[in-house]
This record gives sequence, C-alpha cells and structure tokens, in this order.
Amino acid sequence: MLPVVDKPAIQYVVEEAVRAGMTDVLMITGRNKRSLEDHFDRVPFIEQTLENKGDLEKLAAVREASELGDIHYVRQGDPKGLGHAVLRSRQHVGDEPFAVLLGDDLIDENEALLSRMIEVQEQTGGSVIALLEVEPSEISAYGCADVTVVEGEDFVKINHMVEKPSPEEAPSNLAVIGRYVLHPAIFDVLEETAPGRGGEIQLTDALQTLAAQDGEGGGVYGVVFRGRRYDTGDKLSYLKAVVTIASDRADIGEDLRSWLKQFTEGSQA
Ligand code: G1P
Repeated sequence: MLPVVDKPAIQYVVEEAVRAGMTDVLMITGRNKRSLEDHFDRVPFIEQTLENKGDLEKLAAVREASELGDIHYVRQGDPKGLGHAVLRSRQHVGDEPFAVLLGDDLIDENEALLSRMIEVQEQTGGSVIALLEVEPSEISAYGCADVTVVEGEDFVKINHMVEKPSPEEAPSNLAVIGRYVLHPAIFDVLEETAPGRGGEIQLTDALQTLAAQDGEGGGVYGVVFRGRRYDTGDKLSYLKAVVTIASDRADIGEDLRSWLKQFTEGSQA
C-alpha cells in the first residue's frame, strides 16, 4: 500500500496485469488484507460527495481503483515463502496458465514485458520467468538463472536456477525479477518442494524442477528485460520510482523536472 506519487504501489501492479489482458486478479495477502480490499472497493459516500461538489477529477481517481476488474483475496496464513503463497492460488487458478506479479516490483507502464511473457508461454507451453542483468554483487538478493540462447528467438531457455546464491556460487548475473507466467504443472511440483533457502518453500526451487522436465508443462524459459523496473522494498529504488513516474506525469512532470534541475544544481532552497 506504499504510495508512489498518488497511488499505492499495488495499484500499478494490478494495472499492469489488466493492461496485459488479465481481468481476474487474486491477491495473496498477509495481515494487510483489509486496507487492500478497501482500496479496490467502491466508496459510495466519498463518490457522492465528490459528485455533489462537481470534483470530477478526484471522482475519476477514486473510481479508477474499483474499476480494474474482478479482484479476489486469499490470505497466505503462515508465511512459508513465495512458493507456498503461489500454492495458495491453486483452487482459484485451476488448470490454466497464470501470471504471478510480485507487489514489490514495479515495471514501467510503457514496457510490454508481461504481454511478451504470455506470448512466450503460449509458444513454448512451459513456464516463463523475467530476467534482469544485475551487478554480480547484487545477485545474492535474487533468484539466479543459468540460460541457453534459443536460436532465432528473443527468449532464452533456463538450464538451472538457484535462489539467492553468493556471487561466487551464482551461475550468471541474470536475476529473476517479480513477474512469472506459469504452467499449472507448477502446483504439483510445489506440493512436493521441500523448504529451501531461509526454511521457505521457494518458487525458484519448483521452477528448477520444471526446468529439468520434458513433456506436458515442462521447460522454463526466460525473457530478458532491459527496461525500467523498481523495487519498492529498496529505499533508493523506491525514491527513483517516485521521481521517475512523477516526472513522466502530464500534470506535474514539467514542474518537477524543472525543480529537480535547480535542486541538483544546488540553487533550490
Ligand atoms: C523473490 C524470489 C526471488 C526473486 C525476487 C524478485 O524473493 O524468491 O527469486 O529474485 O523475489 O523480486 P524476495 O524478494 O521475496 O526475497
């Protein structure tokens, strides 16, 4: 629910899913379920007040969040890791490919990462992860993948994955970022995945199992992302998200950019 300019970060993530064609959203939540539900719900009293005042701009902003599609909620219960959280969606998802978007990761709205990942899933029939080249010193904060180029394609095949390796152990500098398009075969694998790093059931470990499987639902592929992505769980990255997104906005962007210029030149009090 952390605000980025004037919307909670999670709203950007839901909007990204909707832009990629998804209208059924399931949120796996922890203890903050109530504020999330309220945010994406209608607020008749406020809407009526704004309507009476004729404040159509604010009215549109308030309605925006509640018009994003069909949003469902399930609590994770015990925080047993990302793999466990994904498993909590099994009943809702059923037997179709589905996308997982981690709420901390913001992908710039001009990027078509998720749509491309959906296409790759349809083409390969496997599961698809998003990869980002990072500094070797940063890899221990991420899942990491060893990959092979697929001839004539812009995606790669995953040979091996490891969750949060040390820079010495890391098979590459390709970090897994918080977007996945998964084949439902992942659920059976997750049921059998033992707790891994940090004592948690790791999605990375389940994907490693699928990467080594042939046949229905086997195989994992990666789309290497080269665009703008922010991690709102990281202080500096969060501030960059706020400044960049605000700078691109039609209403405040120009003023902010000119203020930032003066600020960095040291002439702004
Ligand atoms: C999770 C995944 C990790 C991935 C990361 C992306 O880790 O386990 O593989 O690289 O998200 O943000 P977390 O950041 O939840 O510790």
